[in-house]
Amino acid sequence: MANSGFDTRGVPISYGNQDAIDGLELAIETSLSFRGDAIAVIDKTLEEHPDFIMGWLFKAGWLTQAMETRIYSEMVSALSEAENRLSKANDREKGHYEAIHAWINGDFYGAVQKWEAVLTAYPLDLFALELVHYTDVLLGDVVGQRDCVGRVFNLWDESMPGYEFVLGFYSFGLEENNNYFQAEEMGRRALAIRPDNPYAVHAVSHVMEMSGRQAGGIRFMADQRKHWGDSNFANHLWWHTALYHLDLEQNDKAFEIFDRHLDSRRNDGNKYEELDAAALLWRLNLAGEKSGDRWAHLADKWEPSAQDTLYAFNDVHAMMTFVSDDRIDAQKKLLSANERYLKNASDANVAMSREIGIPFCLAMQDFKSERYGDCVDRLLPVRYMTHRLGGSFAQRDVIGWTLLEAALRSKRYDLALGLANERAALKPTSVQNWRAVSRSFKGLGDHTKADRANARADSLMA
Ligand SMILES: [Fe+2]
Repeated sequence: MANSGFDTRGVPISYGNQDAIDGLELAIETSLSFRGDAIAVIDKTLEEHPDFIMGWLFKAGWLTQAMETRIYSEMVSALSEAENRLSKANDREKGHYEAIHAWINGDFYGAVQKWEAVLTAYPLDLFALELVHYTDVLLGDVVGQRDCVGRVFNLWDESMPGYEFVLGFYSFGLEENNNYFQAEEMGRRALAIRPDNPYAVHAVSHVMEMSGRQAGGIRFMADQRKHWGDSNFANHLWWHTALYHLDLEQNDKAFEIFDRHLDSRRNDGNKYEELDAAALLWRLNLAGEKSGDRWAHLADKWEPSAQDTLYAFNDVHAMMTFVSDDRIDAQKKLLSANERYLKNASDANVAMSREIGIPFCLAMQDFKSERYGDCVDRLLPVRYMTHRLGGSFAQRDVIGWTLLEAALRSKRYDLALGLANERAALKPTSVQNWRAVSRSFKGLGDHTKADRANARADSLMA
C-alpha cells in the first residue's frame, strides 16, 4: 500500500504513489486545458493503480459535468470504486465523495455545498475549484461563479501550477457579474502565462460580447485561433465568433461558421457542440433567415435525448431542433417526459425545468406556429428568472431575443419598443438592436424615429 502524499500544490492525497499523483495532475490539466480526453488519462493511471481513491473521484467528478444520462453508469461505477476504498480516504477525499454522491442523487446544489466545503478546507484544491465554478455555471448561480474564486484567489500566486486556470475562472465569474474591466484584465493575464487556455479566451470573448465590442471580438478570436482552433472548446468559441457577426448583421458569416464548424453532419458531435449549433441556427431564424435543411441532422442528434429530463438547459436546445424541424412526436415526447418527471421527481433540475425550461419550450412551439402573442405572454413573466436555466447571459439572451421578435410579429409595438430600447441601451453598438427599435417605431407609425434608428444601424455598419 502506498503511503499518503501531496499533490503539486501541497493538497493531501491518501494514496501517495508519485506516478499515480502525476497521472491525476495530467488528467486535471487535460480537463482544464480542454485538450485530449481527461477520462482516458485517468483510466490509464487507474489501470496501474486501482486503489488510487482520488483517481476514481476525479473520474466520477469530471463525469458530473457532462450532463448526459449516457455517462451515468460510468459515473456511478467510478464512485462505487471510490466507496469501496473509502476507509482509506482522507477528509478531502471524503468531501469529494459526498459531493458526487449528492450529485448522483440529483442534489446538484447539495453537491456544490460539499465541494465548497472541501475548497474552504483546501483552498488550493484546483479540482474542487474547477467543479464548483463549472457547476455554478451549469446551475446559473451567477454570483457564485465569481465568488467561489474570490474566496481563494489571494491564497494563489503565479508560482503555483494551474494559476492561469484560476485566473480564467475568475475572469469568467467577473464578466458574468458585469465587471468587464477586471474580467478582461484577469483573462489577459491568464493568456500571457499560457496562451493555450481556451477558457480564458472564452472569458475575454464574453467581455467583448457583453460590452458590444464586435469588431474587437472578431479580431481577438482570429488572433487567438492558433491556440483554441483545435481544442475541445472550439465549437463554443466559433459560436461566440458568430454572435459578433450576427450583431453586425453579417448573417452570411454566421452561416459560414455554422457550415464549417458547427454543422452536425461534419462533426461527430457532443452535447456542447449540438447546443451551440441549435442556439446559432435559432438566432439566425429569429433574424429572418431561412436555414434550409440544416435543422434535420441536428434534430437527429438530439432525438435520443428527448426524454432525458436531466437538465432543462439541454431540453430547451433539443426543443429548438424539434420545433424547427417540425418533429411533432419528438416535441410530445419531450413535454410528456417532463410532465411525468415534474410530477414525481424532487431533484435540483425540477425547479429549472418548471420555472424556465418548460415555459420556454412551449413558447418556442408558439413561435413556430405563429402564435406570437402566446409566446410573448409565456416569456414576459419569466424573463428575469432565466438565470435559473444555467449557462451564460450570452446564451440565455436567446430567450430575450425570442420575446422581442415575438412582440414585433404579434404587432405589440409598444412592448417591442420597450424591449428593443432596453437592448439598444445595453448594447448600442449592435446593428440588430437598432433595427428592432426601428421596426417598433415603424409599427407605431412614427416613421421619422424609425428612419433615425435605421440610420444609426447603418452608421454602425459603415
Ligand atoms: Fe460562452
